[in-house]
Amino acid sequence: MKKDIECREDIEKLITQFYSKVRADEKISFLFKDINWQHHIPVIVDFWETILLDNPIYKKNAMEVHYDVNKKTPLIKDYFESWIALFLLSVDELFEGKNATLAKTRAKSIADVMFFKMSTSHAN
Ligand code: HEM
Repeated sequence: MKKDIECREDIEKLITQFYSKVRADEKISFLFKDINWQHHIPVIVDFWETILLDNPIYKKNAMEVHYDVNKKTPLIKDYFESWIALFLLSVDELFEGKNATLAKTRAKSIADVMFFKMSTSHAN
């Protein structure tokens, strides 16, 4: 039986697992090649700590940076499908329980909203 996501260290483990898959992925790794990981990892861990551990430390708007990414390379449905598949796989490989399920549900709903926002901004 796997454990649930219970603390910041668990989220760090999940994010490390997820980005190692992203970086090895043929389809979407190029979208992440310019990231400053030392800067980005604590930010994304804050983001998930806010959602999963109910500790509101991420104060920014997560959509904003994606508009910039989307301007350089339009974020098509295919990219979101790869992103979400790798995220769900990473959660399932490491964790199970209420927060693990919440992580997957929220990732899917945020990815859907993000895709909608990105795709409607292409036309502008
Ligand atoms: C194809 C899908 C996606 C791509 C290509 C993508 C790519 C990126 C990139 C390039 C950054 C900028 C990192 C930096 O330079 O600092 C970023 C930041 C971020 N992404 Fe994504 N992302 C995707 C989907 C998502 C989804 C679905 C979520 C949420 C569930 C998410 C959450 C975040 C957060 C929280 C940040 C940090 C924003 C900040 O600096 O405040 N991303 N993403």
